[in-house]
Amino acid sequence: MTDVEQQATPASSQWFERARAVSPGGVNSPVRAFRAVGGTPRFMVSAEGSWLTDADDTTYLDLVGSWGPMLLGHAHPQVISAVQDVAARGTSFGTPSLPEVELAEEIVARAPVESVRLVSSGTEATMSAIRLARGFTGRNRIVKFAGCYHGHVDALLAEAGSGLVTLGIPGTPGVPEHVTADVIVLPYNDTAAVTEAFERYGDEIACLVTEAAAGNMGVVAPDPGFNAFLARTCREHGALFVSDEVMTGFRLSRAGHWGIEGAKEGWRPDLLTFGKVMGGGFPAAAFGGRRDVMDHLAPSGPVYQAGTLSGNPVATTAGLTTLRLADDAVYRSIDEWSAEARRLVSDALDEAGVPHVVQEVGSMFSILWGTTTRARSFADVQAQEAWRYGPFFHAMLEAGIYLPPSAYESWFVSAAHDDQGLSRMASALPAAARAAAAAPPTVSASASE
Ligand SMILES: Cc1ncc(COP(=O)(O)O)c(C=O)c1O
Repeated sequence: MTDVEQQATPASSQWFERARAVSPGGVNSPVRAFRAVGGTPRFMVSAEGSWLTDADDTTYLDLVGSWGPMLLGHAHPQVISAVQDVAARGTSFGTPSLPEVELAEEIVARAPVESVRLVSSGTEATMSAIRLARGFTGRNRIVKFAGCYHGHVDALLAEAGSGLVTLGIPGTPGVPEHVTADVIVLPYNDTAAVTEAFERYGDEIACLVTEAAAGNMGVVAPDPGFNAFLARTCREHGALFVSDEVMTGFRLSRAGHWGIEGAKEGWRPDLLTFGKVMGGGFPAAAFGGRRDVMDHLAPSGPVYQAGTLSGNPVATTAGLTTLRLADDAVYRSIDEWSAEARRLVSDALDEAGVPHVVQEVGSMFSILWGTTTRARSFADVQAQEAWRYGPFFHAMLEAGIYLPPSAYESWFVSAAHDDQGLSRMASALPAAARAAAAAPPTVSASASE
């Protein structure tokens, strides 16, 4: 970190030094370290509504929302009071408890699932869904898409190699090749590649897992009909269709991305995974789906899956309270704020002469830099001028707006975002857009939270 940064953020700089002495890179999840944009990560000390306050007492408009969970905004009074109430009566029982049943009922009422198992993180949800799919079908192969992130599950860290149908190559040291050998990685939105993979390996494929809409390579919407095609192809080959709604679930609509697509088109995934919003800012996640598939889980069936803190009463109460408050008005206000913010960003970039595409799905969006062609795949996204993002990000940060510290992440809006936030955006954007226009080309990194 430079002297200038240290002077501008003395408390965050000091905390970062302390953190680096005791934690790898000074963080507990890589993208928080600001490696993709440079500079000092801000150490937050409090949050309320759509605002974050850091250790230097600077307040920011928050467009990260803890990477998705904070649908209602921070420290929502009803969520906080419900959490305080339940925590005062004990924080974990290791027995069945009431809020976990109510949360499961709420999820079943909203999403296309007949039965759910609660877990503690999105990673655990996708890992367990895949084990279940393999146990249910008796097959080993998995299909996933390049650029889709499903948590740091060993097998799902496989990335695309060259060629249309590639067998998985581990995306990180520490994952043995045999773990990803059964993973087929395909380009997103490429129906021909999916058809080819299923023609070749169809009767060996346990499941295809995809983000309901991709949000971990920046936002990349599924082409119209793509998810329906995946559901159909899986069914034809006796494989399970696993839709990962950890990011989109209960965010894009009452029923997540499925609510704005599958519900209208008349198809259902066999399994879905959830996290983020359904935990209301606490560690709670879930996977669920067809009852006959879910009944393969222990203790009903033979596939083992368990967790000391699964269904934790505090986490499930936070999630349940959040979901119960997430009515049509909440989704409408998030959609409207997001549309207005997208317009402001796009107008400012146009004004500064920066070619760009606002990549969007529902209220989630990100900016694709240096092109006017919408990205449909990870390869498209990687071809952008991502180096324009760092200067843009820092200009916004200096003007009191906290954006995701990577061009490859979605921006998240909450129901607490209001006109004050839009005016802060409007005053910050012209200088940030000019900074993006003037940015010198550099190598940029991508990372996922
Ligand atoms: C689509 C998707 N699946 C799974 C995960 C993993 O969730 P967690 O970070 O809670 O393990 C994420 C996290 O960002 C995600 O976006």
